[in-house]
Amino acid sequence: MIVVASSIDLRSDTVTRPSPGMRAAMANAEVGDDVLGDDPTVDQLQRRTAALLGKEAAVFVPSGSMANQIALLLHCRPGDEVIVGEGAHMAFHEAGAPSAIAGVQLIPVGAGRNGTFTGEDVAAVAKMESRLSPPTRLVCVENTHNRGGGTAWRRNDLNSVVETARRQGLALHLDGARLLNACVATGTTPAELAAPFDTIAFAFSKGLGAPVGSVIAGLAADMDRAARLRKMLGGGMRQSGILAAGALWALDHNVDRIKDDHENARLLAERLAGIAGLTVDLAQDGTNIVMVDLSTTLPSASDVVARLDAHGVRTLPFGPRRIRLVTHLDVDRAACEEAARRISAVLTNL
Ligand SMILES: Cc1ncc(COP(=O)(O)O)c(C=O)c1O
Repeated sequence: MIVVASSIDLRSDTVTRPSPGMRAAMANAEVGDDVLGDDPTVDQLQRRTAALLGKEAAVFVPSGSMANQIALLLHCRPGDEVIVGEGAHMAFHEAGAPSAIAGVQLIPVGAGRNGTFTGEDVAAVAKMESRLSPPTRLVCVENTHNRGGGTAWRRNDLNSVVETARRQGLALHLDGARLLNACVATGTTPAELAAPFDTIAFAFSKGLGAPVGSVIAGLAADMDRAARLRKMLGGGMRQSGILAAGALWALDHNVDRIKDDHENARLLAERLAGIAGLTVDLAQDGTNIVMVDLSTTLPSASDVVARLDAHGVRTLPFGPRRIRLVTHLDVDRAACEEAARRISAVLTNL
């Protein structure tokens, strides 16, 4: 029998708790009324993130989903088409917002490429407006790609998508909720990865470990409109400097350690690949997300997740026979080793 000391939570990098230092920074934040545009800490975060991403301006929003929806509203009109990678967060995890709010249809491309695609994929589906066709308006790149298994985009693919999109007059949005993971994996700066894109969504509440918030960044004129769209969507916040202070603290303290998450995810992936009935793609350029496929000899993903949960390892089902594990700043190497041991014990004792 396994004695469960405490649960190891690998469901997402969003489960982290603010550290005492971060909480102190939040408690002491100077605040104003950000809807009226005078919260100094929000201003500081917006300026700092715009500079980090090499863009003119940024707008602090409550969530990555809202940043993505604002991008859709900025670039598209109802009835327009948006090209996304297979399994895009916008398509799977934003509660139907792209169709319900922006009124766009998402066209997934790049089947079997872990969420990435190429310029050829874009050219194959992009449409001109006609009596029959919706106009393709926007290409959305998710880097890293969540459902793809934390995929960091390869430079060649990115370049070909950007070239084709520009040639065809399409706008480009980067869902960079985990952009820093892509930077660490590819040895690139955020500004380099963000450079070709008109807008970028960038999250503080994932690998950076802040409790709340994302920004959308881009041209100053677009960000003026973004602030109005944020209000329209109900995302206008008042003394949100308290939240922005957590994000600023994260930028100061939690960037250099993101590489640890990748090393821990690699360790988990290697350990899990050695367990009978589990398949992990070790050839993938991984970051902090590990996707594990279950053989048909094992119970379904939701059943396995429930059993692991009962033995102190929290994961999420990501399909009928796939589970996802994510490393983050609240799980260290020892916790990942222990998680692999517990998973092995549960699955070999079925
Ligand atoms: C790639 C990606 N984009 C956007 C989001 C949305 O972020 P939020 O949960 O803050 O709405 C997530 C959340 O996990 C994500 O993984």
